[in-house]
Amino acid sequence: MEMNSANVEAVVKQVLESMLDKKIPSQSAPAASQAVPKTAHVAMLTSLEHYDIKEFPIPEVGDGDILVKVEGCGICGTDAHEFKKDPFGLIPVALGHEGTGEIVKMGKNVKVDSAGKPLKVGDKVVTCMIFHDDPDIEMFDLNKKNVGGADVYGLLPDDDIHLNGWFSDYILIREGSSVFNVSDLDLDSRILIEPCAVLVHAVERAKTTGILRFNSRVVVQGCGPIGLICIAVLRTLGVENIVAVDGNQQRLDFAKRMGAEKSVNFMEYKGIEALSGAVKDAFGGHLADFAFQCTGSPAAHANIYKFIRNGGGLCELGFFINGGDATINPHFDLCSKEINLVGSWVYTLRDYATTFDFLKRSQAIGLPMKELITHRFPLEEINEAHRTNLAQKGLKIAIVNK
Ligand SMILES: NC(=O)c1ccc[n+]([C@@H]2O[C@H](COP(=O)([O-])OP(=O)(O)OC[C@H]3O[C@@H](n4cnc5c(N)ncnc54)[C@H](O)[C@@H]3O)[C@@H](O)[C@H]2O)c1
Repeated sequence: MEMNSANVEAVVKQVLESMLDKKIPSQSAPAASQAVPKTAHVAMLTSLEHYDIKEFPIPEVGDGDILVKVEGCGICGTDAHEFKKDPFGLIPVALGHEGTGEIVKMGKNVKVDSAGKPLKVGDKVVTCMIFHDDPDIEMFDLNKKNVGGADVYGLLPDDDIHLNGWFSDYILIREGSSVFNVSDLDLDSRILIEPCAVLVHAVERAKTTGILRFNSRVVVQGCGPIGLICIAVLRTLGVENIVAVDGNQQRLDFAKRMGAEKSVNFMEYKGIEALSGAVKDAFGGHLADFAFQCTGSPAAHANIYKFIRNGGGLCELGFFINGGDATINPHFDLCSKEINLVGSWVYTLRDYATTFDFLKRSQAIGLPMKELITHRFPLEEINEAHRTNLAQKGLKIAIVNK
């Protein structure tokens, strides 16, 4: 018999097994409990406000590919926009980009994740964006890959494989993707990685202004999942003097549990002067040093300048899709106040690595991160899950597979 590396490995395994008198599990084959079926189920958005569960063959796994059995995926605001209006023109599309699952099969060339950590069958993974090569960014600002264009599983045009989104039971991660081994995080934490990375990045952007310090007065406007996680990131960083602004009292109450010192319900105030007065009162008679804008409302963008002191800073991150124009007074709001304004757009690979640590630390200091996931639906109930999300009945709605 001719010896190649595969049968040398098999002989060594046999000898070791007889010496140890027990079976050694194979590295490359899926465990018995993870036998791979012939077909996968994918929730395809086939028309506005309607998913169909489609069955597609699971293809051969290429040498650089990874087949993942999906465990769960959060529903994001962008999924909600796609569900209602398809602004990216992707229908029919396999959505879901806040997903995680277990590797059941991988090509022979896959050895490590995007951070160089070893990968094997059975590991729990998440994907990050697949950044485009933009010559301006390659040449001048490698830290800015996030604004050079990117693809993401869950927002890809449909193809002949179809296993492109995390609202499914299997997803095929193709060669050249970014993938992270997060086996040391539990399922809920893994579902929260993507939205948390948005806020880790936003706070990094805020820090570039030099204004955000551990004793800064910070206002967070908007207490949906994004604003609430913003508060948690700030609190984990040691920023304590946080005022949360929203019109939903339940969300404001949760903001306090996430680390906000005070909250202001904007529905209780008539006019921007009264509202900025309430924010000032909450800070004991001072305006904010720094503000995070976490709503998709142009009116909220216009308001937020009035909460910030002269020389203060603002991070605008609320508009992942076009929400329309906002009117500000450039003289009063920006120029004469010398506001330090930064925009924030998704995240970089490095933010992902920071996010894994953030999730552990925030929970270690007692922040109720996992309570952000208020509803869990099986894949077959994805239409109902989206309707629950649109009705703002909870915070983070997740699809969790059995
Ligand atoms: N920059 C990025 O990379 C990025 C990534 C993800 C999401 N986003 C954006 O972040 C925004 C927030 O996301 P979310 O999932 O938390 O949304 P959400 O709709 O669940 O929450 C928004 C919150 O803002 C509150 N709000 C509305 N108008 C307000 C006002 N005038 N003043 C104060 N509060 C007001 C609402 O009551 C709600 O609680 C979205 O618009 C989304 O597009 C941006």
